[in-house]
Amino acid sequence: MEKLLVVDFGSQYTLLIARRAREVGVYAEIVPYYKLPPEPEPGVKGVIFSGSYASASEGPPLPEGWLGRLPALAICYSAQWVAAHYGGAVIEGERREYGPAKLLITDSSPLFAGVAQGSTVWMSHADTITALPAGAHPIAATENIPYAAYEWPEKKLIGVQFHPEVSHTAYGPQMLENFLRRYCGYTAHWRPEDTIEALVQDLRAAMPEGQAVCALSGGVDSTVAALLAYKAIGERFHGLFVDTGLLRKGEREAVLQAYAQIGLPVQLIQAEEAFLKALKGITDPEEKRRRIGHVFIEVFERAARSIPDVRYLIQGTIYPDVVESGASVAPTIKSHHNVGGLPEQLPFALVEPLRLFFKDEVRRLGQKLGVPESFLQRHPFPGPGLAVRILGEVTPERLRTLREADARFIETLHETGWYDRVWQAFAVLLPVSTVGVAGDNRAYGQVVALRAVLSTDGMTAEPSPLPYEVLLRTTQKILQEVPGITRVVYDLASKPPATIEWE
Ligand code: XMP
Repeated sequence: MEKLLVVDFGSQYTLLIARRAREVGVYAEIVPYYKLPPEPEPGVKGVIFSGSYASASEGPPLPEGWLGRLPALAICYSAQWVAAHYGGAVIEGERREYGPAKLLITDSSPLFAGVAQGSTVWMSHADTITALPAGAHPIAATENIPYAAYEWPEKKLIGVQFHPEVSHTAYGPQMLENFLRRYCGYTAHWRPEDTIEALVQDLRAAMPEGQAVCALSGGVDSTVAALLAYKAIGERFHGLFVDTGLLRKGEREAVLQAYAQIGLPVQLIQAEEAFLKALKGITDPEEKRRRIGHVFIEVFERAARSIPDVRYLIQGTIYPDVVESGASVAPTIKSHHNVGGLPEQLPFALVEPLRLFFKDEVRRLGQKLGVPESFLQRHPFPGPGLAVRILGEVTPERLRTLREADARFIETLHETGWYDRVWQAFAVLLPVSTVGVAGDNRAYGQVVALRAVLSTDGMTAEPSPLPYEVLLRTTQKILQEVPGITRVVYDLASKPPATIEWE
C-alpha cells in the first residue's frame, strides 16, 4: 500500500502534516527521526520532514541516507537544517517571523500549481536561511525573507520555511497535494471508510479465540472501536457501560438507546454508589481523579472477570494519543489523564483498532458503520464526568443541581442551533455561595459558570462567541428552574492559559 512518512523532529504541527496528507487522500504515518528505518519500505514514495522546536545548529540531523533517495519536503527547521549543513547559511534568532506573510512566487514550480501569487502563508520561525546550498534555487520569497521556498533537484528536495500544514496557509492543502502527486507520484485516493473490511479481518486474526471486553463510554471512539470488534468476532464481544453516577442528565438512557439502535450488545453496570462513596468528603481535584480511576478499574475488572475466558481488552485509543504518548519528540505539553489506566492493570491483551486514525476519520468510520449522526456529533465528555465540573465536594445534591443546570444550557444550544457550532459546552458548579434575594430576604445561593469553546482537538481552545440572547435565555431558565442557583456567569478564557475543564 502507498504510504507517506512524516518524520517528526518535534514540531507542534507534525500531527497536522499527517492529517492534511490523509485529507488529500495519501495515507501518512508519523515516525520520530530517531526511529526512522535505514531504508524506506516498499510503498513509501515520499517523505516530509517536520519543523522543530530546536534551531538548525543544535537540533537533530536529517537522515542523510534518505536525502536524494526519494522526494522530500522539508518544512521550516528541516529546510533550514539542510541549508545550514550543505553549504548554505542560516542566521539564528535575529529575524523571528510569526504569523501571516504574503507568498511571492519567484519561479514556476510544480509545487505552486494552482496556488495564487500573493496568497497567505503561515510563518513560525526564529531562524532564517540567508544562503542556499550550491545547486539549490529559490522558488518563492516573502516581503521579509528571500528564501521562503527552494528546490534542490539533485537531492529531490523542496524546502519551505512556512507551514503548508497550518490552516492559515491559504493554499496549504494544494501545495501538499502538488508535492505528493506531482513530485512523489502518489496515485491512490485513500479514504478511512474503505479500510473497514481490512480492519475487521485484522481484528479477527488478532482475536482468534476467547472473549473480548470493551469499556464503552458513550463517546465516538469507544463506540466505533467496539462496533469494529463486534463485526469481527460477534458473540465473543462484550461491551460494558459503567454508570459512574457522574453522567449528565438522561445520558445513560440516551447512550444505551443509541447502542441498541446500532445493534451493539452492551451491558450496563450500575456503580453510582461505589463512586459517590469514594468521593465523599474529597475536594482535591487530583485526589478525585485518582479515586474515580481506582473505582473504575475495580468495577470494570469485577464485571470483566464474571465473563468466562476473557482474553482481550478493546480500547478506542486514537492516533494523537499514540503519537503523544510514545512517538513524540517535543517536550510534553500536556499529560492526559484518561480514566482508569485499564491496560496496565488488567491481564488482557490490548486491542486498539483505531490507533492509526484521527478523530475526524473515526467519525467517518462511524458513519459508514451506521452510527447515527447525532451520536457522532456529540461533544466530548471527560471520563471522570461531572466530578471535574463540580468544584469542591461531589455530593448527590450538588450532582443534581449541576445536572439540571447543564441540561438547560445544552437544551438551549440545541434550540438555538448552536450545539453543532461549538466544540464543547457545559456548566460548572462553583464552590462559593453568593448573595441574592428571595422575597424580601437576602438568600445565599450557588453560582454556575457556563463554558462553550471552539477547538479542533482540545489542545487549544477559544471561547465560543455565543450570542447574548442565547446566554440570557440559558441564564433565565437556570435561575427559574434550578433551585439553589442565584447567579450564572460565562467563561471567556482561552486555552492557554486556562484549560477547558475547570476541575
Ligand atoms: P482540558 O481541561 O485539559 O481538557 O483543557 C481538554 C479536553 O479533554 C477532556 N478531558 C478528558 N477526557 N478523560 C477524558 O476522556 C479525562 O480525564 C479528561 N479530562 C479532560 C476535556 O473535556 C476537554 O475536551
